[in-house]
Amino acid sequence: MDQETLTKETLEHTISQFFLKDVVSGLSAVNKSLSSKYFYDKHGHALFQQIMQLPEYYLTRCEMDIFQHKTAELAFAIGDEPFDLIELGAGDGTKSFHLLKHLSEHSATFTYMPIDISGNILRFLETNLKADIKDLDIKCFQGDYFEMMAKAVKQSERKKVVLMLGGNLGNMTAMETQNFCRSLYKHLKPGDRAIIGFDLKKHPRTILNAYDDVKGITAAFNLNLLSRINRELDADFDLDQFEHYQTYDPATGECRSYLVSLITQTVTLKNETFSFEKDETIFMEVSRKFSKEDITGLALESGFRHVTQIMDSKHWFTDSVWEIT
Ligand SMILES: C[S@@+](CC[C@H](N)C(=O)[O-])C[C@H]1O[C@@H](n2cnc3c(N)ncnc32)[C@H](O)[C@@H]1O
Repeated sequence: MDQETLTKETLEHTISQFFLKDVVSGLSAVNKSLSSKYFYDKHGHALFQQIMQLPEYYLTRCEMDIFQHKTAELAFAIGDEPFDLIELGAGDGTKSFHLLKHLSEHSATFTYMPIDISGNILRFLETNLKADIKDLDIKCFQGDYFEMMAKAVKQSERKKVVLMLGGNLGNMTAMETQNFCRSLYKHLKPGDRAIIGFDLKKHPRTILNAYDDVKGITAAFNLNLLSRINRELDADFDLDQFEHYQTYDPATGECRSYLVSLITQTVTLKNETFSFEKDETIFMEVSRKFSKEDITGLALESGFRHVTQIMDSKHWFTDSVWEIT
């Protein structure tokens, strides 16, 4: 076995150990929860591709509008000097592709460093980007955001530009978001910038429908995490006995996904047993929505200067540009 295969296997093993630890701790809590960062195995990735195409799921279309039609503005926000472009939770890079192509066509000097916990997505991303942007300098990092970011920032002395698109930052509670932005600040230096996607508050029904589609793809996406636990952690969740339930609270801007146990049941995972009451819930994911003031406030209180907001034509979504002064 060569060194690269060995490292990849060790990495997958470490991630699988964290997966087990997080699942056991989430299911042992008084209010059960699972971490949404494990949604994206091969099946989860395929289901998310379908979600992005749904008429109800406006988020991808809105941010795509920005990346396709305001590419020059995004490039201007980055500036002229050579830089490293670090993308947190890059996924399949559908939107960043347009910026990368623009930068490459305008002879920008940069290395693209996508970070994602899913090795599967990173392999897909690297293959596609290399095929479409021939001279792209790309270096992938598989693992958790800041563990990988600490490695990425050490790759060169160049200016850093951090991209965090879609709803990634919104998938954290208010407290986690604050802590995340403060950590981001600590990893960067004066002159570095961040471009962060925020879904803006809008009609509550529009938001709720985006996460509760009529075809039930979002439900399948949530249930897939139980399948993944069955497959990878030797558990026996009966998927027919759990149902997806979605809420949105316009006051807090929190859209929350749950799975509800339809009966009293037990689930075994390796040597452990977890009991569920009828109607007991597992909290799966939060998708937070922001006002423009929430965003400028968050930038300032984490130490950044808020530079500008780049919005889609409907003004439903913004990519907000922050700088370290
Ligand atoms: C909803 S997808 C969005 C992808 C992309 N940012 C976009 O806007 O299209 C979220 C991505 O973030 C990754 N992710 C989630 N939590 C992560 C974490 N803690 N560390 C690294 N990657 C993470 C997932 O694997 C997934 O690929």
